[in-house]
Amino acid sequence: MSNNYYITTPIYYVNDVPHIGTAYTTLACDVIARFHRLNGKNVLFLTGTDEHGQKVEKSAIKASMEPQQFVDQNSMHFRNLVEKMNFSPDDFIRTSEVRHKIAAIKFWQELEKNGDIYLGKYSGWYSVRDEAFYAESELIADKVAPTGAPVEWIEEPSYFFALSKWQDKLLEFYEVNTNFILPISRRNEVINFVKGGLQDLSISRTSFNWGIPIPEEENHVMYVWLDALTNYISALGYPEDTEKMQAFWPANVHVVGKDILRFHAVYWPAFLMAVGLPLPKCIMAHGWWTNEGQKISKSIGNVIDPFGLVDDFGVDQVRYFLMREVIFGNDGNYSRDNLISRINSELANKIGNLVQRTVSFAHNYNEQKVPNVDDQFIEQMHGSTIFQNISKIVQDNASLIAEYNIGGVLNNIMWIVGEGNDYMEKQAPWKLRKVDPEKMLEAIYTLLEMIRYIGILLQPFTPRAGEKILDILGIDKAKRSFAFLSKEHVIKPDSKLQTPVPIFPRIEQKV
Ligand code: MSP
Repeated sequence: MSNNYYITTPIYYVNDVPHIGTAYTTLACDVIARFHRLNGKNVLFLTGTDEHGQKVEKSAIKASMEPQQFVDQNSMHFRNLVEKMNFSPDDFIRTSEVRHKIAAIKFWQELEKNGDIYLGKYSGWYSVRDEAFYAESELIADKVAPTGAPVEWIEEPSYFFALSKWQDKLLEFYEVNTNFILPISRRNEVINFVKGGLQDLSISRTSFNWGIPIPEEENHVMYVWLDALTNYISALGYPEDTEKMQAFWPANVHVVGKDILRFHAVYWPAFLMAVGLPLPKCIMAHGWWTNEGQKISKSIGNVIDPFGLVDDFGVDQVRYFLMREVIFGNDGNYSRDNLISRINSELANKIGNLVQRTVSFAHNYNEQKVPNVDDQFIEQMHGSTIFQNISKIVQDNASLIAEYNIGGVLNNIMWIVGEGNDYMEKQAPWKLRKVDPEKMLEAIYTLLEMIRYIGILLQPFTPRAGEKILDILGIDKAKRSFAFLSKEHVIKPDSKLQTPVPIFPRIEQKV
């Protein structure tokens, strides 16, 4: 089995600035990517921006800018978010880049070569906001798409992709590859949609210019979704870089929001089948966030700005909250009170306090050092029920991540934190100090070793806090991956500890 792991976010439309929804998709991918890196995989994590199409062109016109200038400026916001949220992509692709255009054109030519493209005329409904075609039967009200977006009637010459031809092949594929669409509930939704009958798909537009021109067809630009979906292979250097394609294609997972599942689980696989490329292993669809119980929308004016959130609460705090608050795959609700309460009751009171109290104890009563316990004690400690359970958890985490159960991994980490706090209360080192100093040192050692596990495991979620914890413990930078979560790599007795710094300060509620 290959050690390579390829994970992608959707590429974001640059007509809009980043918001909590777009930040969420990338964050989930970042956590998964960091997890796999720490678990020894060779990860390629891709994100980027979707820069063509009618929606972006309209926004550029509204801003009185040339489209290229407009997309250059707006793509920057997404790059800035990468910094702000401490995301770790290996590549950032923009669909206005030459490398992408070359790939998209080649992909078109391959579709054409295999006889899957024909010229016709599209007349039907189109939503610029969704950049999607809708059948009359799908509309939920007069000129309203199922997403709530307005639709308009368009009639124009268009190239078509013979999607209907792939209906049975797609159904067979879903049947055999039961984990292709996750969560399972979404899988049924897609299967029902395909069973309902697939229409051929319009894949070029003639009523505006901002897109990739169709080879030898000056009036047509490529439909923005066909253009956008190929980003997943253009970033691998398709068609030239066969080595990189070989190494990373098919992708392990495309993480997407539930609103864009159809494009990824129906259109994209059909395109790939048509050109003879393997299909991604999984399309993982997550849910949508509401704000204090309300649907998020620009017109309501309740869009949540991730930059402001990080300024107010801190990057690790926001990352933690977004991953902890909802089961990945389900819808979630942002509430300021819940965010503050998670920060205070979990990060500050549970994790922060455990580290602070333990390390302060070692400072005050053991000369800033890790207690000098012997091998026999370490052996016995690692054989104890707590450490046996911790080892199980470490194993368990890998399977949870494989199922995209990100919250499950956090639950596990918080379980260790809970055990640490209980152990501290039961052992009461402040009492032992007077009656049994040796036992006190053993208790402190045990707690420090538990904190080492916590620090290492927290890294994908709260990378800075994880780093701070491990720095305080004096853990070598080269020894912070999951491979070091074993008794062979315990925290070194008698080694120096750093002065503890606050990791998760409490947030005082402003009225
Ligand atoms: N450009 C397309 C994707 C092309 S991928 C080949 C696109 N872009 S987007 O910027 O509109 O949205 C990107 C992601 O943000 C989607 O996965 C979408 O689900 C997510 N979200 C947008 N609003 C959201 C919430 N309120 N909550 C959670 N995620 C949401 O679609």
